[in-house]
Amino acid sequence: MTVKITFIQPDGASQAVDAEPGVTVMEAAKLNDVPGIEAECGGACACATCHVYVDAAWTEKTGKPAEMEEDMLDFAFDIRSESRLSCQIKITDALDGLVVRIPEKQI
Ligand code: FES
Repeated sequence: MTVKITFIQPDGASQAVDAEPGVTVMEAAKLNDVPGIEAECGGACACATCHVYVDAAWTEKTGKPAEMEEDMLDFAFDIRSESRLSCQIKITDALDGLVVRIPEKQI
């Protein structure tokens, strides 16, 4: 079963993609050419160019950033309480319907 993930751009444009459980939200974005997810480090939690805002309804399911992710988030622009690095969110069946927003500065 694939899982639906919706990416919303700063201008409100949204793109829903199908993702396989097991990949990360960053990988799902790259596979579908979602603008604003550069992922320069390739998912090693070392660049912060895959920063997203998790929709408020989903923050509990995606969980809190680990310490290494927290440290890297300090390098991203406009951090909020729902900020995550999308390469550190592994897609599971429980995340079907997940909505994340792309920060303005990344576009
Ligand atoms: S891809 Fe570099 S930190 Fe996520």
